[in-house]
Amino acid sequence: MNQRALKISVPLITVAAVAFLIFSPSKYVGYSPDQPIPFNHKIHAGDNKMDCRYCHTTVDKSAHAGIPPTATCMNCHAMVANKTPDVVWLTKQFTDNKPIEWIKVHDQPDFVYFNHSRHISRGVDCSHCHGNVAEMVKVKQVESLNMGYCVNCHRENNAPNDCSTCHR
Ligand code: HEC
Ligand code: HEC
Ligand code: HEC
Ligand code: HEC
Ligand code: HEC
Repeated sequence: MNQRALKISVPLITVAAVAFLIFSPSKYVGYSPDQPIPFNHKIHAGDNKMDCRYCHTTVDKSAHAGIPPTATCMNCHAMVANKTPDVVWLTKQFTDNKPIEWIKVHDQPDFVYFNHSRHISRGVDCSHCHGNVAEMVKVKQVESLNMGYCVNCHRENNAPNDCSTCHR
């Protein structure tokens, strides 16, 4: 390739690569793994109207929303439904001091920086990125959460969009 062709093709490849990233379909929509115990958001956050923050305590304070320790479950389940097989299992994990190994549903690659609290403090609802979890018997990823999804919303809301916002 001569110098002139190289000067044109490098930016072209960059544009093509970025366009590919922005428009590439997500691998993750619909992902809904089985958990060690069938935890049901509809019973807890839906029917019993529990606040998301009762369990996801750090969602408005830090980058991570957090998954509750079994002690949080036992606040109720020491009494509630404590004869059912799943709650008997839950109680045994607790008394044996064995943490429950929940399987991650939403998982960004390590080179992406995401921060919950920055979004919550701007009034972005959980359902924007996670769908209506309070109606989910089993959590499922409903949005792609890929780069195009993030960048588009940042553009519409005048949020920072330089590469270092999400890659640092
Ligand atoms: C009683 C506690 C409790 C409440 C209340 C609760 N959650 Fe959860 N949440 C959990 C547990 C335990 C998990 C891990 C198991 C699972 O994925 O179902 C979880 C998982 C999740 C996940 C998937 C995490 C991942 O691995 O990607 C999302 C998203 C979520 N919750 C959102 C919400 C929202 C939104 C609300 C309020 C509408 C809410 N939760 C209310 C306990 C709770
Ligand atoms: C604020 C109280 C409260 C907390 C905290 C709570 N639950 Fe529950 N849970 C309930 C209620 C109420 C029901 C419905 C019981 C019924 O239908 O009789 C329930 C039902 C369940 C069931 C179904 C029981 C069955 O019928 O087999 C499971 C499993 C369960 N919860 C797991 C969990 C886990 C795991 C956690 C912690 C991440 C948790 N719960 C936290 C109140 C709570
Ligand atoms: C702007 C999009 C967005 C909003 C709004 C949002 N989340 Fe998330 N959430 C994500 C992404 C992206 C991940 C995956 C993060 C990772 O893998 O590092 C995630 C992961 C989670 C997880 C898994 C555990 C963790 O800390 O990573 C839970 C639980 C969760 N979110 C709950 C919530 C709750 C509850 C709300 C509302 C109070 C909420 N999210 C609002 C995008 C969002
Ligand atoms: C609902 C629209 C929306 C979506 C979707 C969204 N964001 Fe944001 N994001 C915002 C807004 C608005 C801000 C600015 C918050 C502020 O000004 O404090 C922000 C801020 C941020 C910040 C903090 C910037 C800083 O300077 O500290 C990061 C990091 C970030 N978003 C990453 C992401 C990633 C990664 C995704 C996709 C998984 C995503 N966002 C999806 C609206 C969104
Ligand atoms: C608002 C957040 C955000 C901004 C701004 C952003 N990215 Fe990303 N980027 C992401 C997310 C989220 C992913 C992971 C997508 C996925 O999981 O498929 C990603 C993935 C990537 C990847 C890896 C793609 C792959 O398939 O492995 C590259 C390369 C990349 N971004 C480059 C850039 C460049 C260059 C810029 C600046 C022009 C930029 N990003 C700006 C959120 C962002």
